Amino acid sequence: MKSLQLRFIAFSMGMFLVFSISFNSQAQTASKWNIPVKFKTTKNPVAVSKASVADGKDLFAKHCKSCHGSAGLGDGPKAASLDVSCSDFSAKKFQAQSDGEIFFQISEGKEKMPSFKKNVPEDSGRWSIVNYIRTLAAK
Ligand code: HEC
Repeated sequence: MKSLQLRFIAFSMGMFLVFSISFNSQAQTASKWNIPVKFKTTKNPVAVSKASVADGKDLFAKHCKSCHGSAGLGDGPKAASLDVSCSDFSAKKFQAQSDGEIFFQISEGKEKMPSFKKNVPEDSGRWSIVNYIRTLAAK
């Protein structure tokens, strides 16, 4: 009887250890974007123009600013309550991505970053957002 109880306690402690280790490793490694290779070279079909940038700016203010902040620095009012960084669109590392890669991220989303295929249903709207995001690069 006693040894059964002991075995149960040992088993529970073992399970606790396994779970806490797996939770920890999840928190420490932020998952990577899994962007299909073809998006690296996908051309932006919407030419950079005043109209397209203005369109992208409106869509950004409506759908993105709450998390990404008005200058895309990742400091919108909702950002503080997220356990993951909203990135910094002014940074060289971010801007080094191709238009196609940024378009993919906006379209598909990942975890806390929503997919915008529904809320910005026209591809051209999401490409215009990419054109606007280019204006946020640090000068
Ligand atoms: C609810 C908050 C939220 C909203 C709204 C939101 N995002 Fe995000 N976004 C995030 C988070 C969080 C990440 C980081 C996701 C990750 O790495 O898991 C992210 C990541 C991104 C990235 C990739 C950043 C990088 O470093 O490569 C892009 C691009 C992006 N968002 C664009 C947008 C655009 C454009 C909109 C509006 C159409 C938008 N986001 C709306 C939270 C948000």
